[in-house]
Amino acid sequence: MSGAPGTPKIPYGGDYNPEQWPEEVWSADHRLFTQAGIDTLTVGVFAWSLLQPAPDTYDFTFLDRILDRAAAEARRVVLGTGTAALPPWLAKAHPEVNRTDFEGRRHGYGQRHNFCPSSPAYRRLSTALAGRLAQRYADHPALLAWHVNNEYGGACYCELCAEAFREWLRARHGTLDALNDAWWTTFWSHRYTDWAEIEPPSALTEHWRGPDHTAFQGITLDYQRFMTDALLGCFVAEKEAIRAHSRDTPVTTNFMGLYRPLDYHRWAPHLDFASWDSYPPLDAPPSWPALAHDLMRGLKDGAPFWLMEQTPSTTACRDVNPLRRPGESRLASWQAVAHGADAVLYFQMRASRGACEKYHGAVIGHAGRHDTRVFHEVALLGSELERLGNVTLGARTPARTALLFDWDSWWALEISDGPSRLMKYIDVVHGYYRAARVAGADVDVVPVTADLSAYDVVLAPVLHLVKGDVAERLEAVAARGGTVLTTFLSGRGDEHDRAFLTDVPGPLGRLTGVRVDEWDSRPPEVTNPVDLDGQEVASRLVFEIVVPQGAELVGAYTSDFYAGTPAITRNRFGDRGGEGWYVATHLDDAGTDRVVRRVLDRHGLVGPYAEHTDVETSTRVTPDGTHLLFLLNHAATDAQLTAHTAATDLLSGQHHEKGEPLTLDPLGVAVLRIG
Ligand code: GLA
Ligand code: ZN
Repeated sequence: MSGAPGTPKIPYGGDYNPEQWPEEVWSADHRLFTQAGIDTLTVGVFAWSLLQPAPDTYDFTFLDRILDRAAAEARRVVLGTGTAALPPWLAKAHPEVNRTDFEGRRHGYGQRHNFCPSSPAYRRLSTALAGRLAQRYADHPALLAWHVNNEYGGACYCELCAEAFREWLRARHGTLDALNDAWWTTFWSHRYTDWAEIEPPSALTEHWRGPDHTAFQGITLDYQRFMTDALLGCFVAEKEAIRAHSRDTPVTTNFMGLYRPLDYHRWAPHLDFASWDSYPPLDAPPSWPALAHDLMRGLKDGAPFWLMEQTPSTTACRDVNPLRRPGESRLASWQAVAHGADAVLYFQMRASRGACEKYHGAVIGHAGRHDTRVFHEVALLGSELERLGNVTLGARTPARTALLFDWDSWWALEISDGPSRLMKYIDVVHGYYRAARVAGADVDVVPVTADLSAYDVVLAPVLHLVKGDVAERLEAVAARGGTVLTTFLSGRGDEHDRAFLTDVPGPLGRLTGVRVDEWDSRPPEVTNPVDLDGQEVASRLVFEIVVPQGAELVGAYTSDFYAGTPAITRNRFGDRGGEGWYVATHLDDAGTDRVVRRVLDRHGLVGPYAEHTDVETSTRVTPDGTHLLFLLNHAATDAQLTAHTAATDLLSGQHHEKGEPLTLDPLGVAVLRIG
């Protein structure tokens, strides 16, 4: 079984916790769901303590009623396995299910998302619950998908995890000699002579000043990989327990998009479909959730994913929780669909009465009203999705631009001492992604192992670690006439974060035609203007000094002792017009935009509406070959466009001939069927 569940339209709804309410309230809820076009409910996500009130007692009566009621109302259910928040008795009976934190403190019972992934008791009881749920509900008519656990994350540093880490290391490195070599342990007298000597890297061992400051990058990198795999093991075990009874219903777990602690690429093969919860940072531009959507789409080779959660109005967990303005939630929903989402779901259907999420936005508030702005907007989108029907389901994005995304590089860059603690992986990656998107290019955000043969342009910003054959595959892109762009702090380390014993940028040197012997790093207020075709753009934080080895200068530093030397270069590669670009410093948005646009332009990839910087475009091609172009106006004012081709807007029904005016309302959306 692979792929998202088959549905007649985009599933619409979200997290629903009727177990918090008497059944009269359920009736009111379902009436409102019908009014709002809500057909899909995620249930049971935090129901463990009700489902299993004692070690030997299971009680499914309330869940039976929730599912039966949903079925009677013709709604489908995404069924949680409920294993993300422990029941109190479990923590009492098996204190080792509680995590030991980075500072070495064993936690007591409380909160959620905090079970030790190596705890045998947790494994046994979580899989038992998942298995029983699957046995009971596999054939329930309401069942649409399985939702294992919730937002896996964090890390544990307990003795059980230490032991599991040692086992993981044996499997990865084979011998202590290999491990000592990979971690470069002769530095600071760390040569291990027994696996038992190895400790998890924490505040009590290799770290100071927190999780990013480690004496041994190799150890910390391996722990992050291990923790990713340990939590993945919990997911896989629950999935297997489900599969023993429920053979065909797709299984997922809700990811968190741009989430550093877990390498989702390691998880991707184990999911039937990807899903994620979108809560962008407060002042994030639209390209931020877009990057996360495209990363999620890239998890399963471009197959559609689900938007499993977003708030209809406001979050609660932040210091400041602004409301989504009128139209913003609709626009964010269409943006998800534009990027490949085949479901639009909210957290949450009805606001919790107590505890820390009582102020979190919900489709239905405490008063149960239907005449609120939020309910009205939710219902409006519900009716639009109903009208749209199945058109977008299964549609894929035919991107010719790829952006390499690599958790190992993210981790290695941010746990490094030098050259600059201020250089953040996502800031650079997002900068290049944003530039490509505002130029109107569809972008696949893919792992370094992805097949690159379909792309004309491959962006590989801060590809800090170069692993496997990625350098050869990037060369192959340029050899067949494509363009590869990489940046400063790329090609620095191998998979263990050991420096290459060659010129920087290591295995990327041939493609880029440059050599870097020295690099400078300055505080954020220092800029070094880069002269790019006679115009200056700013650069900050890291300044590599490039010695061209065949590459030609595109832009030069203008100050300091390296003034006049290249900050941006391009290198002809092969005999088909391919190029390898190198950007040696952290350019501002204007600079990144200009560089990326030049690269895209070489391949005719600048979009038809690229001059409208507030209008985002995104393409999906349906299984029957219909081209859909989504237009998303992120401005609070109208966008006056001119149709670039004949097209019909599936939302308004309006047809536009090529060259005719096409107006988007403030925060407006069009789903153009081309032709
Ligand atoms: C996460 C969780 C939900 C809820 C929301 C609130 O996404 O999965 O259970 O806590 O955050 O924003
Ligand atoms: Zn542990």
